[in-house]
Amino acid sequence: MKLSFNPSDDIERILIDEDSIRAKIKELGAAISRDYADRDLTLVSILKGSVVFLADLLRNISPQCQIDFISVSSYKGEPESSGVVRLIMDLRESPVGKNILIVEDIVDTGYTLDYLCRNLLTRGLESLAVCVLLDKTAARKKEVRVDYKGFDVPNEFLVGFGLDYKERYRNLPFVGVLKPEIYKKAK
Ligand code: IMP
Ligand code: MG
Repeated sequence: MKLSFNPSDDIERILIDEDSIRAKIKELGAAISRDYADRDLTLVSILKGSVVFLADLLRNISPQCQIDFISVSSYKGEPESSGVVRLIMDLRESPVGKNILIVEDIVDTGYTLDYLCRNLLTRGLESLAVCVLLDKTAARKKEVRVDYKGFDVPNEFLVGFGLDYKERYRNLPFVGVLKPEIYKKAK
């Protein structure tokens, strides 16, 4: 497998373009701003895939809010989820008494969000909600709550707008499908 120097050369097709993403994030930000107008909100971004989404969403939220980060591993660099989720880095601030909104790039099998929701719910939060940019419903193995959703997407391996394949392609400003010769399905 040879990765091109220019990441867009490895893209078979653009699934969601920049303008559509921008418009959708504006809508999500408006809905979240309404719902948290009189509650202190903490956005918890799941590293690393959701940082691009977080950065744009944050700038579309008008009430006071805070951010924090958490890191889990489930993919081990391969496109097929193993189902085993490990906490790699915990929140910096205590979540006790907070209204937490998990910000995630994509929900696929649901293992990651299931693990994180169960973990956070044991920690004395005031409330918990989930915002995802992309939802691959056809791949779901664990039912998870999704309170704010950007787009339903097909069950294909996607990159761009924070999503990676082997740590590459996160910098593409759109969500795209990799060329099949680049992405070989893990056994
Ligand atoms: P889940 O635990 O299977 O729901 O997977 C969630 C995580 O897997 C996401 O946070 C992504 O980092 C990663 N992931 C799932 N699907 C894709 C994809 O199509 N492209 C890139 N990363 C993905
Ligand atoms: Mg992720």
